[in-house]
Amino acid sequence: MIFLKTDDEIELLRESNMLIGQTLAELAKVIAPGVTTLQLDKLAYEFIKDHGATPGFLNYNGYPGSICTSVNEQVVHGIPSDKVVLKDGDIISVDCGVYKNGFHGDSAYTFCVGDVSEEIINLLKTTKEALYLGIEQAIPGRRIGDIGFAVQNHCEKFGYSVVREFVGHGVGRSLHESPEVPNYGRKGNGVVLKSGMVIAIEPMIVLGKRNVCIENDGWTARTLDRKPCAHFEHSVAIRNGKADILSSFVEIEKVLGTRAI
Ligand code: MF3
Ligand code: CO
Repeated sequence: MIFLKTDDEIELLRESNMLIGQTLAELAKVIAPGVTTLQLDKLAYEFIKDHGATPGFLNYNGYPGSICTSVNEQVVHGIPSDKVVLKDGDIISVDCGVYKNGFHGDSAYTFCVGDVSEEIINLLKTTKEALYLGIEQAIPGRRIGDIGFAVQNHCEKFGYSVVREFVGHGVGRSLHESPEVPNYGRKGNGVVLKSGMVIAIEPMIVLGKRNVCIENDGWTARTLDRKPCAHFEHSVAIRNGKADILSSFVEIEKVLGTRAI
């Protein structure tokens, strides 16, 4: 069942999502070689708690972190650890959830650590562009497949591959609601988008082959060929004939300044 949200509910969803943007901006200030992903997790936990909210991922199906930190070949759901020390040239997807006023926010950004190769920066740029092209399709009357097509078409044009095992999703009182939002698809296929739907669009795009596996921790997904993966996510409301992006990268990119990709 797809839950349609009222305007008031969408404002609450925006509040949860805006706090994610602020949290990720705090992390952007400290992401650098030598920092561990557990340090980032602690910072996020404290920041979210200090703002009267709860980390939405913590204890979700037993997930142990407040954020997912996926480095290089890790695709999603990397578990923060004091053993993962960021180094120059790495990329790290930080996926963050905030639960406030009964509603979940969900948004992710992939950061560069120090100097990252041109090849990988281009992967990040294209993935972010693909996210916004997908969002352009999130309007009443379009279909889920239109979003997937827009994302896939853009990324494959550059020779990148789209991960298929993980998809975007509805978001609201639950972190994961219907419908699923794949990052691949055909124009005119799938569920018709309606005013009041809120979906998280989250392309996971890789330099190599699209195949992934799960590490022995039961959570961390990584590419089989160990080539890097980029991941950007926005929560988006469909209403008034347009896509209303509820999360924001503005605060993050203010911190990154000229380092923003
Ligand atoms: N954005 C991620 C997703 O929708 C969040 C995962 S939350 C976790 O899959 F708790 F499962 F890690
Ligand atoms: Co998500």
